[in-house]
Amino acid sequence: MTGKGAALALARSSRGAHPLVEEFTQSVSYDRALYRQDIAGSKAHARMLAAQSVISPDEAAMLVRGLDAVLDEIESGSFVWSAADEDLHMNIERRLTELAGDVGKKLHTGRSRNDQVALDFRLFVSDRTRDWQALLRALIAVLVDSAERHADLIMPGFTHLQPGQPVSAAQHLLAYAWMFRRDAERLAEADGRIRVCPLGAAALAGSTFPLDPRAVAAELDMRGVFRNSMDAVSDRDFVLEALFCASLIMMHLSRLSEDIILWASPAFGFIRLPDAYSTGSSIMPQKRNPDTAELTRGKCGRVYGALLSLLTVMKGLPMTYNRDLQEDKEQFLDTDATVALSLRVMTGLLGEVVFVPEKMHEALRKGFVNATELADYLAARGVPFRDAYRAAGKAVDEAAGRACGLEDLPADVLQGIHPLIADDVRDVLNYERAVARRESPGGTGPLSVQRQIAELRR
Ligand code: ARG
Repeated sequence: MTGKGAALALARSSRGAHPLVEEFTQSVSYDRALYRQDIAGSKAHARMLAAQSVISPDEAAMLVRGLDAVLDEIESGSFVWSAADEDLHMNIERRLTELAGDVGKKLHTGRSRNDQVALDFRLFVSDRTRDWQALLRALIAVLVDSAERHADLIMPGFTHLQPGQPVSAAQHLLAYAWMFRRDAERLAEADGRIRVCPLGAAALAGSTFPLDPRAVAAELDMRGVFRNSMDAVSDRDFVLEALFCASLIMMHLSRLSEDIILWASPAFGFIRLPDAYSTGSSIMPQKRNPDTAELTRGKCGRVYGALLSLLTVMKGLPMTYNRDLQEDKEQFLDTDATVALSLRVMTGLLGEVVFVPEKMHEALRKGFVNATELADYLAARGVPFRDAYRAAGKAVDEAAGRACGLEDLPADVLQGIHPLIADDVRDVLNYERAVARRESPGGTGPLSVQRQIAELRR
């Protein structure tokens, strides 16, 4: 960043700003990320000014050409950003005026940086969160593909991290697909509030020029226009909503990460992590660490932090624009980078995870996850459920003592536990059967799973 003499002078004294103040107040080092939205907004503003006869069509054309030239410079890397010009808006306006001449100074007619920055940031947040939606759809597709491939794979379902009942691996994977689908829906709904045009609010009170915010909104493919100029320049709940959506995405990713971390531990051994997504230890040669999942879990913290940070910035702010609002951008930029990369990494990792059926089967047996089946079997034969429950508990103790599964207990032992246990109990204790019987809506049964897959594919 180079300070340049030609900076648009906004300092209150002719001596200029103290160097510390320049460093402290500048935002161009990060808000330049919004250059595309800023230039698109300025072009729409210039065209609207001409359509409303505030400037001439020729002037508007010169402004648009100049803005396109600035865009080219930025994209080619030749643009010189200057901290002396404080923020991206003034950097771009300065260069526009250098390139287009005095007409450049007309661009800001009927506009303030207060409504300009609100427009830029609304477009930016909308563009980025639309990208998150696409990344979520890709993640959902990988989860659904994997569920389809593992529809017949049975594993223990847990409560309290204790083996509970058998479920299909597909059901477990699809649980996450539904969470991410709600995250995508939430973002789509929020977009209707984010992509609203605030341009025309000017500094805070509206303008004396006959502005047409609807025309600007239409050119920028926005979904509505502001209704109150003071609200338009002071509101940042559109960012907060995006940060909240991001927090939920990261929370869901952290839970999935935790499952992956547990499953990849030799103590579970349910999955084998792809080499490309795991790391070794510098000292322990046997290690295969789930660092990508751990970092995803850990990065949840900074995203929650961004949400809390901006909520705190906004608390008690008097109307309307206050410079505090500039603190919104770094939080969102960091969150955007975190969410987008985390979603990409998780999608890549899940696509390559290898399930280990033998380990899952061993856990089914050792977890006695068919104990409920035995209790239900007796209850279906007229045994009061509490008695049936106690008998099944005895069978579990017996199997634990013999280090075998319930299904491995000899017939006479089972009969000794309860006389109503007959040979047909083998069928009932079969894990695949236990899963296949749970065809209640949304259950883990194969038909229910296929219905979910079909619905998620839509
Ligand atoms: N960089 C500023 C921000 O992000 C732009 C708006 C400045 N407006 C002002 N009145 N100083 O909020």
